Amino acid sequence: MTEIRRGTLQEQTFYEQVGGEETFRRLVHRFYEGVAGDPLLRPMYPEEDLGPAEERFTLFLIQYWGGPTTYSQNRGHPRLRMRHVPFKVDRAAHDAWLGHMRVALDELGLSEEHEQTLWKYLTYAAASMINSPD
Ligand code: HEM
Repeated sequence: MTEIRRGTLQEQTFYEQVGGEETFRRLVHRFYEGVAGDPLLRPMYPEEDLGPAEERFTLFLIQYWGGPTTYSQNRGHPRLRMRHVPFKVDRAAHDAWLGHMRVALDELGLSEEHEQTLWKYLTYAAASMINSPD
């Protein structure tokens, strides 16, 4: 809780609780280090430079968890399933993606509660992105 005016308490967003922008930048940066060296995932990313993809994903997560809405100002409504249609997201891609995310999340050193909240969301979201049979 933060005191925003004397005697006025306001719940912090999850974004604030876990450390704000810096935390999400660290998470996604570490994740993309994994993607950069992944023989299945790396060829799926259309751009030579992974930097812009890293920025889009970072801004998306920041917005999702209650931070600034820069993602939608730049990209419009997320519509993530639709945006993943051009890519073959099968079980193997899903597993590889989550594997890099697991490493990145562990390195953040969040509290168990925050870590579990993020992981639950990421696993649910990753499963919902599968669009190709094995
Ligand atoms: C399950 C395995 C997944 C694979 C293989 C995958 C792969 C990709 C690829 C190849 C791109 C294009 C990179 C770019 O140019 O931006 C992309 C974009 C993106 N992905 Fe995923 N993705 C997966 C799951 C997820 C999940 C679970 C989320 C959200 C929690 C997510 C969020 C995003 C976002 C926000 C973008 C950028 C969308 C935009 O164009 O604005 N992805 N993904």
